[in-house]
Amino acid sequence: MTDDSVRSAQGDVLTARDLYRFYRAGEEETLALRGVSLRVQRSETVAIVGPSGAGKSTLLACLAGLDEPSGGEVRVDGVRISHRPETERARLRARHIGVLLQTRNLLPHLSVRDNVRLPQRASGRRPAVPPAELLAQVGLAQRAHALPRQLSGGELARAGLAVALANSPAVLLADEPTGELDGVTEQLVLSMLRQRAEEGCAVVIVTHSAEAVRVADRVIALDDGTITGGAPAVSLPSQHQEAPDATR
Ligand SMILES: Nc1ncnc2c1ncn2[C@@H]1O[C@H](COP(=O)(O)OP(=O)(O)OP(=O)(O)O)[C@@H](O)[C@H]1O
Ligand SMILES: [Mg+2]
Repeated sequence: MTDDSVRSAQGDVLTARDLYRFYRAGEEETLALRGVSLRVQRSETVAIVGPSGAGKSTLLACLAGLDEPSGGEVRVDGVRISHRPETERARLRARHIGVLLQTRNLLPHLSVRDNVRLPQRASGRRPAVPPAELLAQVGLAQRAHALPRQLSGGELARAGLAVALANSPAVLLADEPTGELDGVTEQLVLSMLRQRAEEGCAVVIVTHSAEAVRVADRVIALDDGTITGGAPAVSLPSQHQEAPDATR
């Protein structure tokens, strides 16, 4: 627990209101998000599903403050992260949000340990958990000095998870965190995400994986930049096909 103001908050930790995101490339305009609103509570795991091009990664990047929505706003524990200069967004992200990206969140020239240290330094606070302990938690204690290219795919995924957890974030945002993983590593990553949720973190997973959807408390289906009321895009046991009531 690094930030009591975040941890003590009951209810919504992450809110997005009426997000729009236009992309313009030459003559062509894409409306990747068309008025997306959602709320995620402490200890809640939400899966975001939908076809390729639906806007899932765009949404996650806006939630993380990695991208700026063209309209609408994102708040993390009541603090607006959208519509701020990049440096401020980066500082807020370092303090409150862990991000696990489709393209891994490791810098290639830094050791695994230094990759974990980087967001800890960026937060401007004393790390709650030392890098060595985080790496032990993901089973990489022996690989702390390795460079990312010296790791296997499963080890890379676990190292990325250690980076995302570096500042004990209140919100954990993952874009297809288990996309290329074998079943065992997928289970390990998902159980670590679940564990964080049990400890109070709000977890959002963009995924095509039925396993990842299975561990979620709630599923939000996104299609063509809009939250749809339809069933998730993947085939699921009936008890997991809740209506994607994104704004409850
Ligand atoms: N930088 C960009 N410039 C222009 N268009 C973009 C850009 N990034 C994404 N898009 C477009 O926005 C839409 C949403 O893309 P996004 O990456 O969010 O989809 P996605 O749901 O994550 O898909 P996938 O499941 O394939 O990862 C797509 O039509 C995509 O082509
Ligand atoms: Mg994507």
